[in-house]
Amino acid sequence: MKDLQRQQIALVTGSSSGIGFETALTLARNGIYTFATMRDLNKSKEILGYARKDSLPLETLCLDVTDEHSILDAINLIIGKKNQIDILVNNASLVLSELCRKYYQL
Ligand SMILES: NC(=O)c1ccc[n+]([C@@H]2O[C@H](COP(=O)([O-])OP(=O)(O)OC[C@H]3O[C@@H](n4cnc5c(N)ncnc54)[C@H](OP(=O)(O)O)[C@@H]3O)[C@@H](O)[C@H]2O)c1
Repeated sequence: MKDLQRQQIALVTGSSSGIGFETALTLARNGIYTFATMRDLNKSKEILGYARKDSLPLETLCLDVTDEHSILDAINLIIGKKNQIDILVNNASLVLSELCRKYYQL
């Protein structure tokens, strides 16, 4: 019974833009404490702006999905703060255009 009452905790990767950005905000707007993670925290200004404006339970964290240390650091930090992760939205990836740019070194 107690478990049903506690706030759910979500981790979203790739929250600096696009689907990850919108998913993180949607989860927070539904009362879920959301860790909106991104590889470059310099890009957190916009999502934090929405979170502050609407008093959403959202915070940003650095997480690069290609870097094991970064993943472990983020998970340890969340577990240390909230003791659990209920929802994982592993959205981050290289989209085709980025892969093409890298491959052709454009
Ligand atoms: N949009 C579509 O129509 C569509 C369709 C099918 C599948 N998808 C999939 O849905 C996901 C999101 O798509 P989107 O359209 O929202 O793409 P997007 O706007 O390009 O967003 C991709 C996000 O992933 C982040 N990212 C890239 N590499 C990362 C890494 N190593 N660590 C952490 N974050 C990283 C980017 O962060 P930076 O800002 O740091 O680059 C960005 O925030 C992708 O996996 C894509 O393949 C999208």
